[in-house]
Amino acid sequence: MVELALPKNSRIGKGKHFSAPAGAKKVKTFKIYRYDPETGANPRWDTYDVDVGACGPMVLDAIIHIKNTMDPTLAFRRSCREGVCGSCAMNIGGRNTLACTHGWAEVPGKDLQISPLPHMPVIRDLVPDLSIFYAQYASIEPWLHTTTPTPQSEWLQSPEDRVKLDGLYECILCACCSTSCPSYWWNGEKYLGPAALLHAYRWLIDSRDEDTGTRLDDLEDPFKLYRCHTIMNCAQVCPKGLNPAKAIAEIKKMMVERVV
Ligand code: SF4
Ligand code: SF4
Ligand code: FES
Repeated sequence: MVELALPKNSRIGKGKHFSAPAGAKKVKTFKIYRYDPETGANPRWDTYDVDVGACGPMVLDAIIHIKNTMDPTLAFRRSCREGVCGSCAMNIGGRNTLACTHGWAEVPGKDLQISPLPHMPVIRDLVPDLSIFYAQYASIEPWLHTTTPTPQSEWLQSPEDRVKLDGLYECILCACCSTSCPSYWWNGEKYLGPAALLHAYRWLIDSRDEDTGTRLDDLEDPFKLYRCHTIMNCAQVCPKGLNPAKAIAEIKKMMVERVV
Protein backbone atom coordinates (compact mmCIF):
# COMPACT_ATOMS: atom_id res chain seq x y z
CA MET A 1 0.00 0.00 0.00
CA VAL A 2 1.25 3.51 -0.82
CA GLU A 3 2.32 5.45 2.26
CA LEU A 4 1.10 9.02 1.86
CA ALA A 5 2.13 10.38 5.25
CA LEU A 6 5.66 11.68 5.83
CA PRO A 7 7.97 9.33 7.73
CA LYS A 8 7.79 9.96 11.46
CA ASN A 9 11.34 11.25 11.77
CA SER A 10 10.78 13.91 9.10
CA ARG A 11 8.04 15.70 11.05
CA ILE A 12 9.27 19.00 12.42
CA GLY A 13 8.36 19.69 16.04
CA LYS A 14 8.18 22.86 18.09
CA GLY A 15 11.53 23.78 19.58
CA LYS A 16 12.95 26.23 22.06
CA HIS A 17 12.25 29.93 22.28
CA PHE A 18 14.99 32.46 22.93
CA SER A 19 13.81 35.86 24.17
CA ALA A 20 15.35 39.18 23.21
CA PRO A 21 17.73 40.72 25.75
CA ALA A 22 16.34 43.32 28.13
CA GLY A 23 16.38 46.79 26.58
CA ALA A 24 16.22 45.55 22.94
CA LYS A 25 14.69 48.33 20.85
CA LYS A 26 13.96 46.65 17.52
CA VAL A 27 13.08 42.96 17.63
CA LYS A 28 12.52 40.52 14.75
CA THR A 29 11.72 36.85 15.28
CA PHE A 30 13.78 34.29 13.39
CA LYS A 31 12.26 30.81 13.12
CA ILE A 32 15.12 28.44 12.32
CA TYR A 33 15.16 24.75 11.36
CA ARG A 34 17.25 22.72 13.82
CA TYR A 35 18.37 19.14 13.40
CA ASP A 36 21.10 17.14 15.10
CA PRO A 37 21.24 13.51 13.86
CA GLU A 38 23.39 12.53 16.84
CA THR A 39 20.50 13.05 19.28
CA GLY A 40 18.10 10.81 17.32
CA ALA A 41 15.40 13.45 17.86
CA ASN A 42 13.15 14.82 15.12
CA PRO A 43 13.95 18.23 13.62
CA ARG A 44 12.41 21.24 15.34
CA TRP A 45 11.78 24.95 14.80
CA ASP A 46 13.61 27.12 17.29
CA THR A 47 12.57 30.76 17.52
CA TYR A 48 14.90 33.63 18.35
CA ASP A 49 13.74 37.16 19.15
CA VAL A 50 16.72 39.02 17.75
CA ASP A 51 17.62 42.57 18.65
CA VAL A 52 18.20 43.53 15.02
CA GLY A 53 19.29 47.00 16.13
CA ALA A 54 22.45 45.30 17.43
CA CYS A 55 23.46 43.44 14.26
CA GLY A 56 24.17 44.17 10.60
CA PRO A 57 21.51 44.36 7.86
CA MET A 58 21.89 40.93 6.25
CA VAL A 59 20.32 37.62 7.26
CA LEU A 60 23.85 36.25 7.73
CA ASP A 61 24.62 39.09 10.18
CA ALA A 62 21.55 38.09 12.20
CA ILE A 63 22.46 34.38 12.18
CA ILE A 64 26.03 35.15 13.30
CA HIS A 65 24.55 37.39 16.01
CA ILE A 66 22.33 34.51 17.18
CA LYS A 67 25.30 32.16 17.31
CA ASN A 68 27.53 34.65 19.12
CA THR A 69 25.05 35.97 21.66
CA MET A 70 22.06 33.64 21.98
CA ASP A 71 22.76 30.04 20.94
CA PRO A 72 26.29 28.79 20.10
CA THR A 73 24.91 25.40 18.99
CA LEU A 74 23.43 26.73 15.72
CA ALA A 75 25.28 25.28 12.69
CA PHE A 76 25.50 26.92 9.26
CA ARG A 77 28.06 27.48 6.50
CA ARG A 78 29.56 30.78 5.47
CA SER A 79 32.87 32.12 4.32
CA CYS A 80 33.21 35.25 2.16
CA ARG A 81 30.11 37.12 3.40
CA GLU A 82 29.86 38.97 0.09
CA GLY A 83 28.15 36.66 -2.39
CA VAL A 84 31.30 35.08 -3.81
CA CYS A 85 31.82 31.67 -2.21
CA GLY A 86 28.24 30.35 -2.38
CA SER A 87 28.46 28.58 0.97
CA CYS A 88 25.71 30.48 2.86
CA ALA A 89 22.89 29.39 0.49
CA MET A 90 19.71 28.52 2.40
CA ASN A 91 15.95 28.87 2.16
CA ILE A 92 14.95 32.26 3.56
CA GLY A 93 11.28 33.17 3.78
CA GLY A 94 10.43 30.35 1.34
CA ARG A 95 13.03 31.26 -1.28
CA ASN A 96 16.51 29.87 -1.87
CA THR A 97 19.11 32.61 -1.68
CA LEU A 98 22.38 33.70 -0.08
CA ALA A 99 22.15 34.75 3.56
CA CYS A 100 25.01 37.22 3.16
CA THR A 101 23.42 39.27 0.37
CA HIS A 102 19.79 39.08 1.51
CA GLY A 103 18.63 41.72 3.98
CA TRP A 104 16.43 40.59 6.88
CA ALA A 105 14.30 43.69 6.27
CA GLU A 106 13.59 42.46 2.71
CA VAL A 107 11.50 39.56 4.04
CA PRO A 108 7.95 40.77 4.71
CA GLY A 109 6.11 39.84 7.91
CA LYS A 110 7.09 39.79 11.54
CA ASP A 111 8.71 36.36 11.57
CA LEU A 112 11.46 35.21 9.23
CA GLN A 113 11.68 31.49 8.59
CA ILE A 114 15.00 29.89 7.64
CA SER A 115 15.58 26.28 6.61
CA PRO A 116 18.30 24.39 4.74
CA LEU A 117 18.24 24.19 0.93
CA PRO A 118 15.26 21.94 0.11
CA HIS A 119 15.35 18.29 -0.90
CA MET A 120 18.91 17.63 0.20
CA PRO A 121 19.92 15.41 3.11
CA VAL A 122 20.66 17.55 6.16
CA ILE A 123 23.97 17.11 7.95
CA ARG A 124 22.97 19.42 10.75
CA ASP A 125 20.72 22.50 11.18
CA LEU A 126 21.22 24.69 8.08
CA VAL A 127 24.02 22.55 6.60
CA PRO A 128 22.89 20.39 3.65
CA ASP A 129 24.85 17.46 2.23
CA LEU A 130 25.89 18.62 -1.26
CA SER A 131 28.00 15.56 -2.15
CA ILE A 132 25.78 14.55 -5.09
CA PHE A 133 25.58 18.14 -6.33
CA TYR A 134 29.40 18.41 -6.41
CA ALA A 135 29.78 14.96 -7.98
CA GLN A 136 27.40 16.05 -10.76
CA TYR A 137 29.49 19.18 -11.31
CA ALA A 138 32.65 17.04 -11.52
CA SER A 139 30.92 14.68 -13.96
CA ILE A 140 30.72 17.36 -16.67
CA GLU A 141 34.54 17.64 -16.50
CA PRO A 142 34.76 21.39 -15.93
CA TRP A 143 38.14 21.98 -17.51
CA LEU A 144 39.54 22.53 -21.00
CA HIS A 145 39.75 19.41 -23.20
CA THR A 146 42.30 19.78 -26.01
CA THR A 147 44.14 17.59 -28.49
CA THR A 148 46.41 20.14 -30.16
CA PRO A 149 49.79 20.65 -28.45
CA THR A 150 49.72 23.02 -25.49
CA PRO A 151 50.91 26.50 -26.51
CA GLN A 152 54.04 27.90 -24.91
CA SER A 153 52.34 30.69 -23.00
CA GLU A 154 48.55 30.37 -22.95
CA TRP A 155 45.43 29.31 -24.89
CA LEU A 156 44.31 32.43 -26.70
CA GLN A 157 40.70 33.49 -27.15
CA SER A 158 39.29 36.44 -29.09
CA PRO A 159 37.37 39.10 -27.12
CA GLU A 160 34.21 38.10 -29.06
CA ASP A 161 34.54 34.45 -28.01
CA ARG A 162 35.35 35.44 -24.46
CA VAL A 163 32.14 37.51 -24.23
CA LYS A 164 30.13 34.36 -25.03
CA LEU A 165 31.05 33.03 -21.57
CA ASP A 166 29.42 35.98 -19.79
CA GLY A 167 26.36 34.90 -17.83
CA LEU A 168 27.95 31.48 -17.30
CA TYR A 169 31.37 31.82 -15.70
CA GLU A 170 29.93 33.90 -12.83
CA CYS A 171 28.21 30.86 -11.28
CA ILE A 172 29.39 30.35 -7.69
CA LEU A 173 27.92 26.82 -7.31
CA CYS A 174 25.66 27.87 -4.45
CA ALA A 175 23.05 25.22 -5.46
CA CYS A 176 20.10 27.63 -5.03
CA CYS A 177 18.92 26.79 -8.57
CA SER A 178 19.21 23.00 -8.48
CA THR A 179 17.52 22.75 -5.08
CA SER A 180 14.59 24.88 -6.28
CA CYS A 181 14.04 22.75 -9.41
CA PRO A 182 11.10 20.29 -9.14
CA SER A 183 12.68 18.01 -11.76
CA TYR A 184 15.83 17.87 -9.64
CA TRP A 185 13.78 17.11 -6.51
CA TRP A 186 12.24 14.04 -8.15
CA ASN A 187 15.28 12.80 -10.10
CA GLY A 188 18.18 14.35 -8.21
CA GLU A 189 20.47 11.36 -8.66
CA LYS A 190 19.97 11.05 -12.43
CA TYR A 191 19.09 14.53 -13.70
CA LEU A 192 22.20 16.74 -13.60
CA GLY A 193 20.21 19.82 -12.57
CA PRO A 194 20.50 23.44 -13.69
CA ALA A 195 23.86 24.29 -12.07
CA ALA A 196 25.84 21.40 -13.57
CA LEU A 197 24.15 21.90 -16.94
CA LEU A 198 24.93 25.62 -16.96
CA HIS A 199 28.58 24.67 -16.48
CA ALA A 200 28.33 21.95 -19.15
CA TYR A 201 27.16 24.62 -21.60
CA ARG A 202 29.96 26.96 -20.53
CA TRP A 203 32.54 24.33 -21.67
CA LEU A 204 30.56 23.37 -24.78
CA ILE A 205 30.78 26.90 -26.16
CA ASP A 206 34.32 27.72 -25.05
CA SER A 207 36.15 28.41 -28.33
CA ARG A 208 39.33 26.80 -26.93
CA ASP A 209 37.71 23.46 -26.09
CA GLU A 210 38.20 20.66 -28.65
CA ASP A 211 35.88 18.01 -27.27
CA THR A 212 32.38 19.29 -28.05
CA GLY A 213 31.22 16.02 -29.64
CA THR A 214 32.14 13.86 -26.64
CA ARG A 215 30.68 16.39 -24.25
CA LEU A 216 27.35 16.28 -26.13
CA ASP A 217 27.49 12.45 -26.29
CA ASP A 218 27.84 12.37 -22.50
CA LEU A 219 24.71 14.50 -22.07
CA GLU A 220 22.62 12.53 -24.61
CA ASP A 221 20.65 10.67 -21.98
CA PRO A 222 16.95 10.63 -21.07
CA PHE A 223 17.69 11.78 -17.52
CA LYS A 224 20.89 13.85 -17.43
CA LEU A 225 19.59 16.65 -19.67
CA TYR A 226 16.04 16.02 -20.77
CA ARG A 227 14.38 16.13 -17.34
CA CYS A 228 14.37 19.93 -17.61
CA HIS A 229 10.77 20.94 -18.34
CA THR A 230 11.45 24.69 -18.49
CA ILE A 231 9.69 25.45 -15.21
CA MET A 232 12.16 28.35 -14.75
CA ASN A 233 12.47 28.23 -10.93
CA CYS A 234 16.24 28.12 -11.46
CA ALA A 235 16.41 31.48 -13.24
CA GLN A 236 14.07 33.10 -10.73
CA VAL A 237 16.16 32.24 -7.66
CA CYS A 238 19.75 32.56 -8.92
CA PRO A 239 21.35 35.17 -6.61
CA LYS A 240 23.86 36.04 -9.37
CA GLY A 241 21.11 36.78 -11.91
CA LEU A 242 22.09 33.86 -14.20
CA ASN A 243 19.71 31.88 -16.39
CA PRO A 244 20.46 28.12 -16.26
CA ALA A 245 17.18 27.34 -18.10
CA LYS A 246 18.44 29.27 -21.14
CA ALA A 247 21.77 27.41 -21.05
CA ILE A 248 19.87 24.09 -20.94
CA ALA A 249 17.72 25.14 -23.90
CA GLU A 250 20.90 26.00 -25.82
CA ILE A 251 22.35 22.53 -25.13
CA LYS A 252 19.14 20.92 -26.41
CA LYS A 253 19.44 23.10 -29.53
CA MET A 254 23.04 21.93 -30.05
CA MET A 255 21.82 18.33 -29.78
CA VAL A 256 19.25 18.89 -32.52
CA GLU A 257 21.61 20.85 -34.77
CA ARG A 258 24.23 18.14 -34.82
CA VAL A 259 21.81 15.51 -36.17
CA VAL A 260 20.21 17.63 -38.94
S1 SF4 B 1 13.94 25.36 -16.16
FE1 SF4 B 1 14.66 23.25 -16.04
S2 SF4 B 1 16.37 23.34 -14.66
FE2 SF4 B 1 15.26 25.25 -14.39
S3 SF4 B 1 13.88 24.84 -12.67
FE3 SF4 B 1 12.82 24.33 -14.53
S4 SF4 B 1 13.10 22.14 -14.88
FE4 SF4 B 1 14.63 22.85 -13.41
S1 SF4 C 1 23.46 29.20 -11.55
FE1 SF4 C 1 23.10 30.71 -9.94
S2 SF4 C 1 21.83 29.64 -8.43
FE2 SF4 C 1 22.75 28.09 -9.73
S3 SF4 C 1 24.56 27.42 -8.63
FE3 SF4 C 1 25.17 29.05 -10.10
S4 SF4 C 1 25.08 30.93 -8.93
FE4 SF4 C 1 23.96 29.41 -7.76
S1 FES D 1 29.21 33.72 2.70
FE1 FES D 1 30.03 33.48 0.68
S2 FES D 1 28.30 33.68 -0.58
FE2 FES D 1 27.52 34.09 1.38
